[in-house]
Amino acid sequence: MTNILMVCLGNICRSPLAHGILESKLPKEKFYVDSAGTANYHIGEKPDHRSIEVAKKHGIDISTQRCRQFNLEDFDKFDYIYVMDQSNFENVIKLARNTNDIAKVKLILEVDDSIKVKHVPDPYHGDRTDFENVYQLLNNASNIITTNLLS
Ligand code: 4NP
Repeated sequence: MTNILMVCLGNICRSPLAHGILESKLPKEKFYVDSAGTANYHIGEKPDHRSIEVAKKHGIDISTQRCRQFNLEDFDKFDYIYVMDQSNFENVIKLARNTNDIAKVKLILEVDDSIKVKHVPDPYHGDRTDFENVYQLLNNASNIITTNLLS
């Protein structure tokens, strides 16, 4: 099994979408995808309704996901830890115990050499257009991750 974790701040907007999108592209027998937030603000909650709606519009159901906080055991459990922005990166790296942990953490948009901006903007204070933009960025990155993992 290859284990992949998506991480943002709240685990209600960006990482649940990244989780649902990548999970929909990979065979379940070989890949386990999960998500977490570095903050504890929304533990136990469903994803933001705007993330649920944009995922649904694209044929993905993320409504059964529940928010959890990133923890140290995630460094042991996961092979790849994709973060959405530089701030998430720093929050996760701060918890790393060794170089092995650090090596697992990547900005998700780094998988795409063709784009310059490497952060997924936080849509929490935004509108539907911002959520659609996040969906497109994450769908594109997930296509690249899928190609890389399956080749
Ligand atoms: P996310 O967005 O990190 O993409 O889940 C946020 C969700 C909630 C908050 C901030 C960002 N918050 O401050 O509650």
